[in-house]
Amino acid sequence: MDRRRARLSILLILSIAALAAEGAAAVPAARPSTGTEAGALLDLMPVPESVTARAGRFRISEGLTIGGPGPATGRAFKAAARFMSRLTGRTGLFIEQDWLAAQRPQGEAGIRYAFERAGGLLPGEDESYTLTVGADRVALAAPTDLGVLRGLETLLQLLSADEAGYYFPCCEIKDRPRFVWRGLLVDVGRHFHPVEVLKRNLDAMAAVKMNVLHWHLTEDQGFRVESKVFPRLHQLGSDGQFFTQAQVREIIEYAADRGIRVMPEFDLPGHSTSWFVAYPEHSSAPGPYAIERRFGVFGPAFNPADERVYPFFDAFFKEMAGLFPDPYLHIGGDEVEGHQWDANPAIQAFKKKQGLADNGALQAYFNGRLLRILTKHGKTVVGWDEVLQPGLPKDIVIHSWRGPESLVEAARKGHRGILSNGYYIDLCQPAAFHYLNDPLPAGSPLDDAQKALVLGGEATMWSELATSETIDSRIWPRTAAIAERLWSPAAVRDVEDMYRRLPGVSLRLEELGLLHVKNAGMLLRRLAGRSDIGPLEALAEAVEPLEGYKRHGQAAYTSLSPFTRFVDACAPESPEAHVFGRDVERFLAGRDRTVAASLGVKMSGWRDNHAAVLPYLAAAPALREIEPLSLGLRRACEIGLEALAVLVKGEGRPAAWAEDKAKVLAEAARPAAHAELAVLEAVGKLVRAAAGKAGR
Ligand code: ACM
Repeated sequence: MDRRRARLSILLILSIAALAAEGAAAVPAARPSTGTEAGALLDLMPVPESVTARAGRFRISEGLTIGGPGPATGRAFKAAARFMSRLTGRTGLFIEQDWLAAQRPQGEAGIRYAFERAGGLLPGEDESYTLTVGADRVALAAPTDLGVLRGLETLLQLLSADEAGYYFPCCEIKDRPRFVWRGLLVDVGRHFHPVEVLKRNLDAMAAVKMNVLHWHLTEDQGFRVESKVFPRLHQLGSDGQFFTQAQVREIIEYAADRGIRVMPEFDLPGHSTSWFVAYPEHSSAPGPYAIERRFGVFGPAFNPADERVYPFFDAFFKEMAGLFPDPYLHIGGDEVEGHQWDANPAIQAFKKKQGLADNGALQAYFNGRLLRILTKHGKTVVGWDEVLQPGLPKDIVIHSWRGPESLVEAARKGHRGILSNGYYIDLCQPAAFHYLNDPLPAGSPLDDAQKALVLGGEATMWSELATSETIDSRIWPRTAAIAERLWSPAAVRDVEDMYRRLPGVSLRLEELGLLHVKNAGMLLRRLAGRSDIGPLEALAEAVEPLEGYKRHGQAAYTSLSPFTRFVDACAPESPEAHVFGRDVERFLAGRDRTVAASLGVKMSGWRDNHAAVLPYLAAAPALREIEPLSLGLRRACEIGLEALAVLVKGEGRPAAWAEDKAKVLAEAARPAAHAELAVLEAVGKLVRAAAGKAGR
């Protein structure tokens, strides 16, 4: 099957007459964004390969049953149980089937799932499914139980409601992923994120059909996994914040139940300070070492010239290979800073003796030795794109982060590859940016055989600025857009349609225990010391954390810094600011009075919010840093309202007026509280239109 050439085939065949007979005119209460029978079919995320709408509704009653093959310990049964639990949660229905204890014979059930075999947790395993919703039966068929899991998520997304109750719209969906590797990296090194954080994020990954958790377990700032062979690694390198081996197994099992592989990363030979707290003798400089608290690229690196290093890794990876069943193991390899190697005469002599021209060649030598060890222990090696050095064995998978070129270069050299460049969700960039970033973009220079080597991609949640309280909001919902890029046909690229669907996905993730929405309120309540935080929430709607690495320039952050400030309660991409920007565009395109009225209400609210914010600042010193943001928002909205009034009246303003306003907006654009206003570009458009297109 050639997944990469999956053809977009979205057919929405609506029989208007049949729908009218069904009473489709009613607006479904549970899905206010959808006005037609096709509604929920159009809201799916990721978009399936093929969707055919049919007339009719499968009604959900308390007598609903589900059944399929396989034992109660099987992955499909457990997924069906979770499906029913989520369905009862959403509908409030007291569904009668004792689905936790017993399974309906497949032939009797209202929802029947079927699969031929248990899927293996390997890239390329069949995850396809066919979902047929008829008025009397739902049939979900898949070659493997993994397909059943993916199909059950689709079915839940189809839940709709009308005046008669809940239903699934009749349809036929045929679906399969475009890419076999759809991952999320979670960095538990810079900030530790315990078991419950990983579990809820695994649930969220499954909800959007992602299938790899890349567990970044070791960093300068922490060694996060228990080693029974070298216990001082986690004892001295983690501040007591590490995963026991029992917890590792628990996570792997939890992920496997959701059809998700777990690939560990041990970042070597750099990013390794925490290892040297216990074992300074394996570094390239004497030490002693302490756990790194700052962020950046640091000197400590393993000593490739010391033969004692390799038996150490042999014993360590023998242990880890037994703990982590995934056939892939990531050795990192990024950002080896090189100073320790340059300053060590024994390493310099070793390079000369081995004919290693530079530190890249020395790292390649080290990688070659690690590769032999890991191959012996049954692992396929993955490494960041720095490992792509001349002579690298072809079976190493290249993980592209510095630029998409390395993915192309890797494929040309015969390596399989994974893309993360463009999926750095820690940088707080808009979902649209990630969404349009394609591992195999149109115009890719690769031929078909080379394209087949591109396995997919991974969103990377680096944790310098994310704690367990904030990590969900840094991952979700934007990662759902990346999940769609990696699952859906390449032609699914309508950015505004993605933004239309994203809030629904975000809402549904909350039922899985994700804290991306509710923790914002918690953070603000804690800062304010009171429970009525409306004005702070209104300001947060218009504010986003500084993008890219700019936030690091605002303070000397360490892993011990507070990540409990206003900026940490702000979403990386504010949905309200996005809607505001889109409405400004809509208004400027059509001068629609209704849109103008809603823009007016929004800007008046934000303008008047400043007075309401001030008492909070007086009472909470930690909030005082947000005053410039609040004042800037007031000023920007005063300007926006003036420009809007000019445009609504069909008047114009001179260029000098626009220049004055642009200066005020530029002042408001200055970062404050490690954040910035997210609505200024849209206000600027109103101002320019008021000056430039007078009387239109
Ligand atoms: C990386 O971001 N250093 C892989």
